[in-house]
Amino acid sequence: MCGIVGYAGARQALDVVVEGLSKLEYRGYDSAGVAVLADGKVAWEKRAGKLANLTAALAQSPPMAGTVGLGHTRWATHGAPTDPNAHPHTDCGEHIAVVHNGIIENFADLRAQLQAAGHVISSDTDTELVAHLLEDEVAGQSAPGAGSLAAAMRAVCQRLDGTFTLVAVDARDPDVVVGARRNSPLVVGRGHGENFLASDVAAFISFTKQATEIGQDQVAEIRADSVTVTNFDGTLAQVRDFVVDWDAEAAEKAGFKWFMTKEIAEQPRAVADALVGRTDAAGRLMLDEMRLTDDELRQVDKIIVLACGTAYHAGLIAKYAIEHWCNIPCDVQLASEFRYSEPILTRTTLVIAISQSGETLDTLMAVRHAREQHCRVLSVCNVRGSSIPRESDGVVYTHAGPEIAVASTKAFLTQLVSCYVVALYLAQVQGTMFASEIDTVLDQLRAMPGAVEEVLEVMGPVREVARELAAEPCVLFLGRHVGHPVALEGALKLKELAYMHAEGFAAGELKHGPIALIEPGLPVAVVVPPPKDMAVLHDKVVSNIQEIRARGARTIVLAERGDAKVAQFADTLIELPVVPPLMQPLVATVPLQVFACELADAKGHDVDQPRNLAKSVTVE
Ligand code: M6R
Repeated sequence: MCGIVGYAGARQALDVVVEGLSKLEYRGYDSAGVAVLADGKVAWEKRAGKLANLTAALAQSPPMAGTVGLGHTRWATHGAPTDPNAHPHTDCGEHIAVVHNGIIENFADLRAQLQAAGHVISSDTDTELVAHLLEDEVAGQSAPGAGSLAAAMRAVCQRLDGTFTLVAVDARDPDVVVGARRNSPLVVGRGHGENFLASDVAAFISFTKQATEIGQDQVAEIRADSVTVTNFDGTLAQVRDFVVDWDAEAAEKAGFKWFMTKEIAEQPRAVADALVGRTDAAGRLMLDEMRLTDDELRQVDKIIVLACGTAYHAGLIAKYAIEHWCNIPCDVQLASEFRYSEPILTRTTLVIAISQSGETLDTLMAVRHAREQHCRVLSVCNVRGSSIPRESDGVVYTHAGPEIAVASTKAFLTQLVSCYVVALYLAQVQGTMFASEIDTVLDQLRAMPGAVEEVLEVMGPVREVARELAAEPCVLFLGRHVGHPVALEGALKLKELAYMHAEGFAAGELKHGPIALIEPGLPVAVVVPPPKDMAVLHDKVVSNIQEIRARGARTIVLAERGDAKVAQFADTLIELPVVPPLMQPLVATVPLQVFACELADAKGHDVDQPRNLAKSVTVE
């Protein structure tokens, strides 16, 4: 939530910062602002609304020349998304400008203390307090100037409770941008004669691919020609450098109307990439980033999957594969509930944390809790160097490439594939499957990019029905077995993009209550299990479809190609390729993504930036 950029170099900071913000807008889009240092002063501009409002205002303002600056795109926590609450915030002397991602929990106490000391607080935000705290710290130093902003930031951070990434500039220390992080993301981009601070590498990838992770409770001071990272206590920090493994073009729309449509279309490639390099020369599975030893994995007797939102749905599906292939009990929990449910954890419990961003605070806190209880934690993440993999014992990266649209699509499919690979690896280590059986499943997975491609080629009827239903107030989704989480995911997509009431149900539960919702014309999308391999469940779902049709529902049926038994009960039939039951979610989810995307587009919504949401949820 919130995107932050800082720049020190030779280019015009405003251009670099605004370009960086355009790449980070997916993180929050309530308001945006920039600040640039020039002529011993800090100049700033900020506007409520999307980045376009800020750029329009900048076009009307006097030019902001200067080679050191920062910027912010906001997802509001403290204070409504208004011009005064937009970041950056300044101190009373207007020397210092600060941007922030996170929540400062001791906000009320600090505000009272600052007001009592005579500071004039002009916004409702927690962030502005940091500008005033920095003001006092810098003033308390013997010689404001070189090095003082970083020292002040270290001191201020120690007074803050909560989560924060902070980036600040001080007109009296004009070559420097300082960033700090606790529980929120911050990375350094290292260029030639220029350096960057950002919430995400996307902000600087068009300038440099060389990056440095900033750890927990660390402060980074960047200048055009240097980067210094210290711990909050002032000691030099150990840092980890990495090279970003995707190109700037990957974060462009490339002719698609929306990032979401592009990311849906990229799924065959993403699924293929998630499988690259998973076997050794002898064809045995290997997970080189896993970092957990086979001995540790052999002892695992219980698995808990933790995740939020779409990643949670991936976990619900993975449970079927894990239990089937590994014969290990698997529980899937919402990361936000985990700590509060008094989970029973032992040293032989393996926690699998799934997160696209690797920054979801609910999931990060759950990971910390599990590790405190001596569990081993393996994360399944997309963003390299993000907090969750950093704090896990091992990681399997999903290799989906940058996912910019707020609604998760290719991340979901690659999470599924990666979880399946983890399950197969566990089965290999624990000996619950023969090598030949693992090979068979790997071959099935390798066929998935082709199957997803096939689905994408026949999305015409899905788009058509989505447009027809744009005025409906509600859509229900039904499924069984792995089709149930697919139904949940279809409903989530529709809620977040089309702002429609949408619910996913286990089809067997219909008669226990939800059937009361059925009335003439109500659209119900049903994921039908494969007729041969899941004949019993298939027939039960076909009966469910008849039951809802008898009550007037309009049925949108997702069924295996050639499934004659169900076709007659479909008002709209969406045919899926013939795949094994555990692979069906990989093909059945895609039409539901397209459905939600098209319906939202038909309603005139911003598909990539749905209201009230942000891509990376870094507050609890
Ligand atoms: O980055 P994460 O995978 O941890 O994010 C978890 C959820 O916030 C995320 O999946 C969210 O539900 C998506 N917007 C759904 O499309």
